[in-house]
Amino acid sequence: MTTIAPSLIVHGGAWDIPDEHVEAHIAGCRQAAEVGWKLLCDGASALDAIEAAVRVMEDDPTYDAGRGSNLNAAGQVELDALIMDGATLGAGSVAAVQRVANPISLARLVMEKSEHVLLVADGAEQFAREHGVPICQPQDLLVGRELERWKALQADPTWRTPQAFKAASDTVGAVARDVHGNIAAATSTGGTSKKLPGRVGDSPLIGCGAYANTCTAGVSATGWGESLMKVVFSKLVCDKVEQGLTAQQAIEAGVRVLAQRVGGLGGGIIIDREGRIGFAYNTPRMARAYIVKGDIVSDV
Ligand code: GLY
Repeated sequence: MTTIAPSLIVHGGAWDIPDEHVEAHIAGCRQAAEVGWKLLCDGASALDAIEAAVRVMEDDPTYDAGRGSNLNAAGQVELDALIMDGATLGAGSVAAVQRVANPISLARLVMEKSEHVLLVADGAEQFAREHGVPICQPQDLLVGRELERWKALQADPTWRTPQAFKAASDTVGAVARDVHGNIAAATSTGGTSKKLPGRVGDSPLIGCGAYANTCTAGVSATGWGESLMKVVFSKLVCDKVEQGLTAQQAIEAGVRVLAQRVGGLGGGIIIDREGRIGFAYNTPRMARAYIVKGDIVSDV
């Protein structure tokens, strides 16, 4: 069987990423990219590579995903994640889970072991138990940095999400194209700080937080979820590839629509059907790492 050169890109979130957190963001993205890239080079599927890459970032408290996530208005971690297989258009996602440290793997189980696409809250956790996914305590996902931040935000009744430029971290994601040419995309997040309990953002919603279609492209988004949802950001960007744009042109066009149409903030990463990589954002920073000619390139 003919094989092709694989491609991989990961992101570690948009917003401002304060200077003191830049090094950790870059290191985590590089580690995630390294893990995903090794799998791809060994012939693993794009799905396996992105799941493994996202798990690295969920386990890293640097990011707003898994342990270390932002807290909601009630001081709780509520996690959302989505994974999508561009070969079949199969997708699985979970939202508002509080007891699963790696929601991206639970999302994959939803895709592969249920007839559904999205499970939320207690139902998602019940599904996790039934499928042997490790269950943690909510406090296992909580870190001191976010508790301090939550306390500070409690004292500011005027705080709204677009002010998240003061946040230390955001959503993570990965997109890969494997040696068979299949594309997959994944996104995982703790959502926005001080969100109302039960709030679900773009990340677990197919077409919003991620989308993958091997015939066009795979995209993972980050940023202000309510704005990304309004333009169905990830599908919008994939459609731009179908209309003839390259990966980089498509993601830049998506960010322009996000800004111009709904005053949105955020960005994303993309791999198109030719294996070309792109990224764009309209926040001050977006952490990312990707592979060029076998070497990892990273920046914020
Ligand atoms: N983009 C992540 C969120 O808004 O929940």
